Amino acid sequence: MLLRTRPAIRSSEITDKKLYLRRREFIQAAAVTAVGAAAGTLGVPQADAAPSWPRVKVPNFAKSPYGADEKPNAYQDATTYNNFYEFGVEKEDPSNNAGPLKTKPWTVKVDGLVDKPADYQLEDFIKPYALEERIYRMRCVERWSMVIPWIGFPLASLLKTVQPAPTAKFVEFTTLFNPQQMPGQRRDVLRWPYVEGLRLDEAMHPLAILAVGLYGEYLPNQNGAPIRLVVPWKYGFKGIKSIVRIRLTDRQPMNSWQLSAPSEYGFYSNVNPSVDHPRWSQARERRIGEFFMRPTLVFNGYGDQVASLYAGMDLKKNY
Ligand code: MTE
Repeated sequence: MLLRTRPAIRSSEITDKKLYLRRREFIQAAAVTAVGAAAGTLGVPQADAAPSWPRVKVPNFAKSPYGADEKPNAYQDATTYNNFYEFGVEKEDPSNNAGPLKTKPWTVKVDGLVDKPADYQLEDFIKPYALEERIYRMRCVERWSMVIPWIGFPLASLLKTVQPAPTAKFVEFTTLFNPQQMPGQRRDVLRWPYVEGLRLDEAMHPLAILAVGLYGEYLPNQNGAPIRLVVPWKYGFKGIKSIVRIRLTDRQPMNSWQLSAPSEYGFYSNVNPSVDHPRWSQARERRIGEFFMRPTLVFNGYGDQVASLYAGMDLKKNY
């Protein structure tokens, strides 16, 4: 997100040397992308590479009414074109490097302003909830998108179990910190561990899920095994992976991208085609696997369900 993006910069926007140097980086990155596109790959590895990770079916899950009427991307796209900086900053790094991440046993701590704080083993954590498939459009801040059939359960169900205190206003999520297993954490590309946050009413929205699987199978490590957040009306970076802690708080949490580039990333991060990223327009996106760009939809097309969460707010200021 900071390092490799397709350029959308007019020279009039370049004001100082730092930005100029960044621009050169982008042009080089674009040249690499252009070669990929010419080869017909659009940066996505070809489908003939056999997966090197275990593929385990989720035994029981229901279809839910929340499926988008869209064709999911190929499994290969979703599992080899990833952002997971704990395993490197290139799209193919997570699928190549995340194999050694040990996801059993896995503990999730729920604490902060809750009536029932607990350290859960993952199995106990997910056991009370019925798993369902949700086919969601996902829009990355880097202007690519995919449609992914997730398997998970509403975050709201968990929150109802742990009972937020009346003073709780926000939910903060934290990824595992383990530089031995996550080699990207040995470099300062982000402040580790990765953190994300939602307002409590956003977290309670039925579209926000904790996912444990995709395409009928448990999550491969590169997609955030064993449990990750999916919030389809927000940019993909809100979907924090490999969660070990969920903390209820009365203060708005900072998230990793805000901490690393406060002028570029805000707390809300709602998909909004009329709020440009400072370095590129967000009006259009490339669906991975398609050639032409398509218009980006406000709230990623989920406005009917979620716009009321933001009634009266200036979304240009609260980006
Ligand atoms: N979570 C952690 N812990 N580390 C990351 O680098 N990247 C985010 C998000 N969650 C990231 C993360 C970004 S930028 C995106 S676009 C999505 O994960 C990508 O999810 P996917 O690879 O499953 O498509």
